[in-house]
Amino acid sequence: MLRIAVLVSGGGTNLQAIMDGIEQGRITNARIETVISSKGGVYALERARSRKIKTSVISPDDYDGREEFSRALLSEIKRLRVDLIVLAGYLVIIPEILIHDYRNKIINIHPSLIPAFCGPGYYGLRVHEAVLKKGVKITGATVHFVDEGTDTGPIILQKAVKVYEDDTPEVLQRRVMEEAEWLILPQAIQLMADNKIQVKNNKVYISGNRESN
Ligand code: GRF
Repeated sequence: MLRIAVLVSGGGTNLQAIMDGIEQGRITNARIETVISSKGGVYALERARSRKIKTSVISPDDYDGREEFSRALLSEIKRLRVDLIVLAGYLVIIPEILIHDYRNKIINIHPSLIPAFCGPGYYGLRVHEAVLKKGVKITGATVHFVDEGTDTGPIILQKAVKVYEDDTPEVLQRRVMEEAEWLILPQAIQLMADNKIQVKNNKVYISGNRESN
């Protein structure tokens, strides 16, 4: 049974997709041990509590410095013997000590087709604003492992989504969530639960995929 910690900072729609996936049997052999928010009062915490999932708030603002914050986050993750850390709308930079101890065991959902529209400053609506400003016809979402960079870790899954000329950032964000994020994040968790992912030379190989035969 894969023990998961989901890290959130906001609305928690990706958390909801994971909880629904587990409840409806689309994700098997995995369990959310805890939801950790970087700030209090966010709706993601309500979503977790409604499913009786343990929640905690570990906010950088509550600690004297990044060192103490990092240690508090790492000790909670280790205390619960977490196997996989899922960043679902988490807006805090992951401490290096966590990346080091959980190499290729932290995954993130990013609302674009990396390497496009990613990196420092590209999060939430800003991503979709940049997509519309550039006028690309296809965007999408990416699940990737978290490394020391910003949105630079090995790519696990991606899904493309059409961009329409009359899209607003909000409409496009919703489509990317519905048609991509909420599908590929649960799929990536299932692949981890089934131990089907290997990383070689910073690239992901999924057993059972055509390329890996
Ligand atoms: C989404 O756009 C997601 O792609 C990004 O954070 C935003 C909010 O996600 N990672 P959620 O609704 O809090 O899951």
